Amino acid sequence: MSDVPILAGNGLNMPALGFGTFQLEAQTIREILPRALELGYRHIDTAQCYNNEDAIGKVLEQSGLDRDSLFVTTKVWFDRYEPEDLIRSVHESLERLRLAQVDLLLLHWPVFGGRGMNPTLEALLHARAQGLTRHIGISNFNIDQTEQAVNYCGQDMLATNQVEYHVYLGQERLRRVLGRHNLVLTAYMPLARARTINDPVLWEIGSQYGKTSAQVALRWLIEQDRVAAIPATSNVHHARANIDLFKFSLSDEDRRRIAALDKTGRICKPDSLSPEWDD
Ligand SMILES: NC(=O)c1ccc[n+]([C@@H]2O[C@H](COP(=O)([O-])OP(=O)(O)OC[C@H]3O[C@@H](n4cnc5c(N)ncnc54)[C@H](OP(=O)(O)O)[C@@H]3O)[C@@H](O)[C@H]2O)c1
Repeated sequence: MSDVPILAGNGLNMPALGFGTFQLEAQTIREILPRALELGYRHIDTAQCYNNEDAIGKVLEQSGLDRDSLFVTTKVWFDRYEPEDLIRSVHESLERLRLAQVDLLLLHWPVFGGRGMNPTLEALLHARAQGLTRHIGISNFNIDQTEQAVNYCGQDMLATNQVEYHVYLGQERLRRVLGRHNLVLTAYMPLARARTINDPVLWEIGSQYGKTSAQVALRWLIEQDRVAAIPATSNVHHARANIDLFKFSLSDEDRRRIAALDKTGRICKPDSLSPEWDD
């Protein structure tokens, strides 16, 4: 069994390291996810728009693992944000995932119609009240939107904001706001889509501990208070490396060198979905 720590925050109990599944097609999920579960991953991150909930559901069902030992997140795509449709879409996700409830349900992007975010947040609260999910949260919300969502939902209702975060992107202001409201920051693209792999600074740091640059990039994230990371891989060797993070730690000097890396490297900024980013 793995030694992944569990993160708390607004009632949340979420493994600090998850398995991302963006762009992993059904066949890849069938191959890699059983191996990832063997390696100790228990937190699985998917989304309606990844088109792999069905494949994930089958693997989880066949794994024979206790439902309570798993932590499954899915995200509602913005074209299902009308309240009744949001609930319908969650039932569809649950059917594909073969689950009675997910552990965490997120709004994937802050894209709302003329009535603003409140009707969609209300539907998210209903999904939780109906037991379709244990926890609710947001994704890609900027600071203003996060504050608005917390104000509407209530101080202890939202568990996380899942946003891009890695050694090349600063998120200090957002982290402070999330901390104030007791939300976890779930770091997506934690390897900066593999850009960290050949970073000479990360290599040098890792070589002191017999670790790779990818492991240093992930360790840097999960050493931070209330930060989770969800790296994705289709490669079992990478999956093994990405969870082998808990028997070394970075020094103050390592952290100082990582802090000095350029922090303006946002990768995920689709024109049609992006809010006004804070950085
Ligand atoms: N909420 C959102 O809007 C949002 C947006 C994007 C992503 N996400 C979530 O975040 C997860 C992670 O993001 P991501 O998949 O875009 O990027 P990522 O995890 O930063 O990078 C994935 C890339 O890194 C490579 N890789 C993984 N581990 C490696 C290792 N140890 N050594 C070398 N290469 C390695 C993978 O290739 P191999 O397959 O060859 O290992 C893949 O090309 C997604 O899967 C998804 O669940 C959420």
